[in-house]
Amino acid sequence: MPNSPAAPALWHRLLGVLRCPVCDGPLGPPPGVPAPGPTLRGVTSLRCAGGHSYDVARQGYLGLLTGNVNVANADSADMVGARSRFLEGGHYAPLADALAAAVAGLCPPDGTVLDAGAGTGYYLAAVLDALPGAVGLGLDLSKFALRRAAGVHPRAGTATWDIWKPLPVVSGAADVVINVFAPRNGPEFRRVLRPDGALVVVTPTARHLAGLPAGLGMLSVDAAKEDRLRRTLSGHFRQEGADLVEREIALTGESVRDLILMGPSAHHLAAEEVHRSVASLDSPLTVTVSFVVSVHRPS
Ligand SMILES: C[S@@+](CC[C@H](N)C(=O)[O-])C[C@H]1O[C@@H](n2cnc3c(N)ncnc32)[C@H](O)[C@@H]1O
Ligand SMILES: [Zn+2]
Repeated sequence: MPNSPAAPALWHRLLGVLRCPVCDGPLGPPPGVPAPGPTLRGVTSLRCAGGHSYDVARQGYLGLLTGNVNVANADSADMVGARSRFLEGGHYAPLADALAAAVAGLCPPDGTVLDAGAGTGYYLAAVLDALPGAVGLGLDLSKFALRRAAGVHPRAGTATWDIWKPLPVVSGAADVVINVFAPRNGPEFRRVLRPDGALVVVTPTARHLAGLPAGLGMLSVDAAKEDRLRRTLSGHFRQEGADLVEREIALTGESVRDLILMGPSAHHLAAEEVHRSVASLDSPLTVTVSFVVSVHRPS
């Protein structure tokens, strides 16, 4: 992000947002190590006063998940590679723009944005570009995703975490929580948001990926998804608005392959199978991409 000013106080600010996942105490550098500034460079671990310690990965993300971690739902290295290539192609830029515009209208310019299920940090970076003094914290289960997300923006920090567990975040610390195609923990999103904060969720509609031949083995978008979103958040949030972002895009065979391999279908399809079916496609292929960006307020 060449135009983004660096945030000397990024980790100073994030240490005010993060909490020890075990005892809820504040985190800081080990004794004798200077407090982290713009990055975690030079800091090999963060710990609480109770002695719980969390390693900083070489790539610069914080490993808050320790012990036996169930990563069955985490994106694999291959999925993350496919997602990165696909997003770099700019195919979802209209969605990133719409999300960034929505968040810019909801968050103070120097606020704090939590991205729950940040993946490679593509959307968090777009949101921070629209908020010149804001900082972001991206959480994800996949270390492969975080290896890329760690350097995605000078005002973003990242940590491993499982969204289904209590979040390692101070109550009321976030101005906006964003959640893009990732699991949603309604009660925890509510707890970490300021009472006047907002949750912004991106979900695909039933028309998403219309135009992709059925033979490719993609999982279809569940038509009940919107209902499920409402149910998982009801009792904690009320929906304030929703915008449809829908485009027709032209995809090469390589992009179609990455689109398939970056999503949930990758869990049940062999890569060679996808390569074979994509090779027989007429390219470029016109595909509909269709998303809803919805805004939810704590209730
Ligand atoms: C479809 S990807 C979306 C990533 C990113 N938001 C994007 O759109 O580019 C879903 C992400 O959720 C993460 N994930 C799945 N289950 C999770 C959990 N329980 N806690 C945290 N992250 C999770 C995956 O590792 C993956 O990065
Ligand atoms: Zn602790």
